[in-house]
Amino acid sequence: MSSYVTRKTPGDTEWFRHDRFGMFIHWGLYALPARHEWIKTREFIPEEKYDKYFKYFNPDLYDAKEWARQAKAAGMKYAVFTAKHHEGFCMFDTKYTDYKCTNTPAGRDLVREYVDAFRAEGIRIGFYYSLIDWHHPDFTVDFYHPRRNDPDAAELNNGRDMKKYALYMRNQVEELLTNYGKIDILWFDFSYTNKKTPADKPWMTKPGKGKDDWEAEELVALARKLQPGIIIDNRTDTEQDIWTPEQYQPTEWVRHKETGELVTWEACQTFSGSWGYYRDEQTWKSPEMLIRMLINTVSIGGNLLMNVGPTSRGYIDHRAEAALGVYADWMKYNGRSIYGCTMAEPEFLDGLPADCRYTQSEDGKRLYLHIYSYPFKALTVGGLAGKIDYAQFLHDGSEVLYTEGGFEGHSMLQGCDDDTAVTFNLPAIKPNTLVPVIEIFLK
Ligand code: GLC
Repeated sequence: MSSYVTRKTPGDTEWFRHDRFGMFIHWGLYALPARHEWIKTREFIPEEKYDKYFKYFNPDLYDAKEWARQAKAAGMKYAVFTAKHHEGFCMFDTKYTDYKCTNTPAGRDLVREYVDAFRAEGIRIGFYYSLIDWHHPDFTVDFYHPRRNDPDAAELNNGRDMKKYALYMRNQVEELLTNYGKIDILWFDFSYTNKKTPADKPWMTKPGKGKDDWEAEELVALARKLQPGIIIDNRTDTEQDIWTPEQYQPTEWVRHKETGELVTWEACQTFSGSWGYYRDEQTWKSPEMLIRMLINTVSIGGNLLMNVGPTSRGYIDHRAEAALGVYADWMKYNGRSIYGCTMAEPEFLDGLPADCRYTQSEDGKRLYLHIYSYPFKALTVGGLAGKIDYAQFLHDGSEVLYTEGGFEGHSMLQGCDDDTAVTFNLPAIKPNTLVPVIEIFLK
C-alpha cells in the first residue's frame, strides 16, 4: 500500500484521487469576442456592447454528446463546466436572473445537456461557479471590475449590497445542486483579498473580496447539505477539499501550509494561453507537453484538470480536438500508469534516471517507469535489483528484458557497478507511443 497519507477532506475525495484526470470546460458569452474570458474587463467593454454577445449567442452546433465522447476517449473521468463565469452570464435556466442562456438564441438549458451527456458516458459531473460577477447590480465595483475606470465609477457602489449578492449566489448554488442530480464537484473561483486601493481610485476602499464577502461558510454549508460528499475547491478563501495550483507545474506534492500534511490537489491548465475560446491565440502546447504534464502531476500525487474552450457555435475547435486526441492515443494504452496511481515509494525514487518519472499503483504492486528521453538500447535504474517479478512495455504488453546489478564482459548491454541497479534492454527504436512506459510488477 502507498505510504503517503493525505490530509482528511470533508468531501469524498477517494474516487477523485483514483481518477486523476478531468476536463475543464470554459464556455460562455466570451466565446463570441473569442479573445479570452476576461475580455469584458480587459477591454472595459460597456454593457450595451457586451449585450451584443447576449443577442447573438446561438450555439447551433452544440452537441454535448460529442463533447462527452471526446472527453471519454481522452481518458477524462470527470468534468467541470462553467455554469457562470466572471461575466455573470448563466449557462443554466436559473429563476434568479434573466441574464441566462435560455433567453438568448440558444433558447435552452446548456448545463442540462452537459450533465445528461457526460453522465451518460459515466463521467462524473462538476460545476465551476464564479464568485465574481461583473453583471450583477449588487456586486460592488472593485479592483477587477470592468466599470472601475468609468467616469461615475466612484458613485457606482452607492446602493450596491454584497449581502444581496451573496444570497443570489446561495440561491443559484441551490438550483445547481438540486435540479441536476448528483453533482460530484463544485469549483468556486476566486478570492482576491490582497488587493490595495489603487492610487488613482481613492473611492475604492474595498478593492478585494474574500470569504466574508461571499459569506463562504454559509455557501459551503449549503452545498454540503444539498450534496453530501461533494468536493469543493479552496478558492472561497476557506479551506475545503482540494488545492488548485493553476497554469504552473508543481514539482513536489502540495502540502498544507500550517501542518505540512500532504493535501489532495489538482493542477488546472489550458491547452493554449486562454481558458475561454481564443481564436488568435498561438501558444498551444505540444503533444509531448500534454502527456508529460499529466505524468508529472500524477508522479507527485496530483490530479490534472485540462481545459477546453468551445466556440460560440458550440463545438470544440480543431486545435483542442487534436489535443484531446493526443490524450486519447496515449491513454488508450497507458492509462494504467495514471488511474489508481500516485507518487512512487521513496525506496524507488533515489534510483530514478534523469528524464524519467515514476508512478506507482496505490496497492504498491505495480511501478510505472515513464521514459521521456528514449535511450539507445540500455536504461539503468537504481534500487530495483531483486524487486522485479516481471517487466513489460505497457502500451503493447511486450516483455522487457533486464539484467541485475554489475555486469562483466563486453556485451552490448553495459551494466553498471551498482549492485542495487537493474539495466533494461530496450529496442534501439523508440516504440510508437509518445512516452513509453515500462510496467514493473514487483515481487
Ligand atoms: C483564473 C481565471 C479564470 C479561470 C480560472 C480557472 O481564476 O481568472 O478566468 O476561469 O483561473 O482556474
